[in-house]
Amino acid sequence: MIEVLHARQFPLTELVLLASERSAGKSMATAYGEKQVEAFSVERAQSCDFVLMAVSGSFSTEFSPQITGNGKTVVIDNSSAFRYHEDVPLVVPEINESAMDGKLLIANPNCTTAIAAMALWPLHQHFKLKKIIVSTYQAASGAGAQGMTELEEGTRQALEGKVFPNEVFAHPLPFNVIPHIDSFQSNGYTKEEMKVVWETQKIFGDKSLACSCTAVRIPTKRAHSEAITIETEKEVSPEAAMEVLSTAPGVQVVDNPAEKSYPMPLTATKKYDVEVGRIRRSLVFQPCGLDLFVSGDQLLRGAALNAVLIAEAKLL
Ligand code: HSE
Repeated sequence: MIEVLHARQFPLTELVLLASERSAGKSMATAYGEKQVEAFSVERAQSCDFVLMAVSGSFSTEFSPQITGNGKTVVIDNSSAFRYHEDVPLVVPEINESAMDGKLLIANPNCTTAIAAMALWPLHQHFKLKKIIVSTYQAASGAGAQGMTELEEGTRQALEGKVFPNEVFAHPLPFNVIPHIDSFQSNGYTKEEMKVVWETQKIFGDKSLACSCTAVRIPTKRAHSEAITIETEKEVSPEAAMEVLSTAPGVQVVDNPAEKSYPMPLTATKKYDVEVGRIRRSLVFQPCGLDLFVSGDQLLRGAALNAVLIAEAKLL
């Protein structure tokens, strides 16, 4: 049985859990009571109004279009299979909800992109972003349950002077940081880094937005952090940015260095909002630039919550 870590009110009348034949029949505690997992079939998925696809890209490529083929079931796909398709909207509801009008297949962004986008979009609206430079600090759980096990077990064994083999991560993660998430591309960036670039441009609807990213895995358990430098078209001060961010949806300003208050994975974990802080004038881009730091729960804002918000927006 899997423990429910977090529940959010969503007007579901019935929840159906679909998985492989192997998992069918297993029992799961959900916010809607104890549920038995059923074997996946396109027909069963089509009996639902919404399908949240948490599967591999190849599975989604094959089955998502089949499911939406009935002309009514909405599929929210968490893989990267459709994120860059022209006719598939990539949606963070607070930013580009209207992109999914009339669409049944909707792509959920990569967690790292969604977290940064929450802080950057309000700044883009007010000060027009020209350049974005991101350095990420990504938790082990971004690589799934096996990544967590490799970190926890590896840390225990490292403290006993033993070596725990790394299989999920490119190198042992305990007491280390690894500047390598997903595969390297021909331009020297990793796929995770290019996802931040492509997806930010697509969600913001601006292919001319210059963006660069260095994605790094660190030995934290949950919530991704990102150090971000922006150059803006309009002049921006930390005070003006803070004012904009303090009323932006999905964002919590945590910025009082004198009180040692700033975004951190430990405080961002299990929060729906993305923490934003360390907002200061950029020493490089003046007077049109800022440095900031964000931490967001990648399992919520970066995945599950965003999918639920998409579904809620489709219901309205
Ligand atoms: N790509 C992310 C990571 C996972 O590896 O941390 C998205 O939740």
